[in-house]
Amino acid sequence: MKPLLLPALAITLGVAALLAADAAPRTVAITLPAETARLADSPLPGAALATSFCFTCHSADYVLTQPPASSRAYWKNTVVKMQKTFGAPIPDSAIDPITDYLVKTYGAERASGK
Ligand code: HEC
Repeated sequence: MKPLLLPALAITLGVAALLAADAAPRTVAITLPAETARLADSPLPGAALATSFCFTCHSADYVLTQPPASSRAYWKNTVVKMQKTFGAPIPDSAIDPITDYLVKTYGAERASGK
């Protein structure tokens, strides 16, 4: 019986090694769909600031789908909520310019009155 022990041990170790290799982390590549929503161009300084600070967590669709009658106070509250409640790293100095851009482009102060 003794000669059988060695091969049995070798097989056990081999299986253990295979199981361990299977449990090792693997790299999986995924391809996300291209982002299509973007903010409207504008000479207002808040446009570039919003593009820099607003879309690390969600797409621009969140801005584009807000009610067009939204007031300056609504937009300011929203921007401050992103910063304070959701922890967006938006400098205080960017709050007012971003609010100004958003209310004039997507809110109650739009020139077109769409
Ligand atoms: C730190 C991550 C983060 C950043 C950066 C961020 N947001 Fe958000 N935003 C959120 C979360 C979380 C929600 C809520 C999502 C939900 O309810 O499904 C949200 C929701 C929104 C909504 C939907 C209305 C609402 O009040 O929930 C708007 C509009 C919005 N964000 C605008 C902005 C703008 C403008 C900026 C830049 C000033 C910004 N977000 C930056 C996390 C972020």
